[in-house]
Amino acid sequence: MKIFLDTASREVIKKWSVTGLIDGVTTNPSLLVKEDGEPKKVLTDICAMISGPVSFEVVEKDPDAVYKQAREIAACAPNVVVKIPCLQEYLPVIHRLSCEGIALNITLVFTALQALMMAKLGVAYISPFVGRWDDLGHEGVALLQELVTIKKHYGFSTQILAASLRSPLHWKQAALVGVDVVTIPPAVIEQGIKHPLTDKGVALFDADWKKAGRTQLL
Ligand code: G3P
Repeated sequence: MKIFLDTASREVIKKWSVTGLIDGVTTNPSLLVKEDGEPKKVLTDICAMISGPVSFEVVEKDPDAVYKQAREIAACAPNVVVKIPCLQEYLPVIHRLSCEGIALNITLVFTALQALMMAKLGVAYISPFVGRWDDLGHEGVALLQELVTIKKHYGFSTQILAASLRSPLHWKQAALVGVDVVTIPPAVIEQGIKHPLTDKGVALFDADWKKAGRTQLL
């Protein structure tokens, strides 16, 4: 499983990049506006920090402007992936960019058919939003299962990038379903690694060691 970090914070990316866990980064306009500095600088900084794919979303609305902006974003660094929302009016643009070899991440995917159409266009990633689908009373993880099944049936190369994962449970469920990639908020990685019995066990070993008065291990 590939793990992307869902943040635009360079500080956070720096902290996690040395762990060996992080294969890429995803950003979106909501994450980007929390950061200081010009968006382009934030993007190029992140791309220099991480060798894997870095998703960066278009903010233009008109399809021609989306095409132009997508090309500009793609030109910023070799590891940029351009994020485009899954909207009907962007189908020709997505097709064109995909044929031109631009790596795309189609975002805000909520149904199997949206995913199927984007996979058929040969995009690099589709991002189903698990938490936001749960918010509406649906089962986000069931959506992931549908996408994995469809991908298997037709041998699509598009990678399923599970997004809007808000808990370690979401993450585990995405792994059990077999998605290609998860993008995880930093806080959820911390929740995922921390366990009270691990902490308790470390404290107990430490206490026993100190009680015995030993100073040398090797
Ligand atoms: O990767 C998408 C993510 O940033 C959205 O998460 O929690 O706002 O639905 P959330």
